[in-house]
Amino acid sequence: MKHTGIINPQISTKNINKQLLKNLKIGVVDAKFQYIGDKQAESWLAKCNSDDYLHHRNFVNEIKNIAPKLSEYIKGDVNIVGLGIGNCAQEIILAQEFLKNKKVSLSMVDSSWELIHAALENAASLDIPKEAFWSDIVKSDAIKNIGDHVKRVHNPMNFYTLLGGTICNFPQSLIIKVLRDSLKKEDLLLVSFFGRRCSDVMQEIYDSADIVDAYRGESSKSHDLSTLEPFGITEEDGYMQVDYGIDKRIPFINIIERKFVFSNDCKVNFMDEDVYFAEGENILVGTSCVYSMDSVKHLFKSHGLRVVKSFEDKTKRYIHLLCKLG
Ligand SMILES: C[S@@+](CC[C@H](N)C(=O)[O-])C[C@H]1O[C@@H](n2cnc3c(N)ncnc32)[C@H](O)[C@@H]1O
Repeated sequence: MKHTGIINPQISTKNINKQLLKNLKIGVVDAKFQYIGDKQAESWLAKCNSDDYLHHRNFVNEIKNIAPKLSEYIKGDVNIVGLGIGNCAQEIILAQEFLKNKKVSLSMVDSSWELIHAALENAASLDIPKEAFWSDIVKSDAIKNIGDHVKRVHNPMNFYTLLGGTICNFPQSLIIKVLRDSLKKEDLLLVSFFGRRCSDVMQEIYDSADIVDAYRGESSKSHDLSTLEPFGITEEDGYMQVDYGIDKRIPFINIIERKFVFSNDCKVNFMDEDVYFAEGENILVGTSCVYSMDSVKHLFKSHGLRVVKSFEDKTKRYIHLLCKLG
């Protein structure tokens, strides 16, 4: 069976504005709203290609180097299932490599309708079965059903991909539960994320200038501001601030928080409701995590995932982990 791009809607747009209003009131914007909408998707795609945000390109380029080793590890035909697919860059490279000696299908899962379309377009020249699922990745049932479905229709094993930056946008107990519930014993999961240069969390804070600079760059700033566009909040109302620290709940993880700080008292009207902000108050627009190899192995192990292969380059700050269940 051959698909050239099917959108299977598993998400509802009905409540998006309601969710956004709630986010505005609590001052924390859910990660998925950084990518939903034309402007938001476009600015993220521009950020991936920009010279002031090289970290993303480092991850993706490194995939080219490790793809043959990953392919060797996979016995038999495989379905790549991208969770939070973005521009599909990593998955396309993996598919091109795996194709050399096995049958491959590609499934894209994302809550951004706009990015799913961009991903399908980017993968258009790949001559393999492709499906896209417009779905929330923190829904265990949805991800499990997608995993079972692609096995029924395509190949007997799933190779899931997930960005560490996406994993850290959710409480770990929630997102890792989805993975535990969805992975079967034969399946693999590749997680890619920012690595710490030093093993010490405090030391890392002093060594973090490059990462903070990347998030202060023009492309990151404009993507973060696009998240606030539905509320009509602009740079006239305040400025972006990047804070680097330690995760409150998991203190062996470093965390980068991107906040919009109001420079004046401000009244925001959204969905016919006024929401008030005082000068100096902030809205958390985005979060990323930085882990050391040991800390992430420890985290995954305690939450029921086993790392079977790992790749790390401390200079470029990337870590790719291949995991299995249990
Ligand atoms: C930082 S991008 C990473 C994209 C890609 N995996 C990469 O490595 O470049 C995060 C992706 O996750 C998606 N995403 C965020 N929250 C999501 C959610 N709750 N459910 C599904 N997708 C989500 C976004 O739309 C976006 O495509």
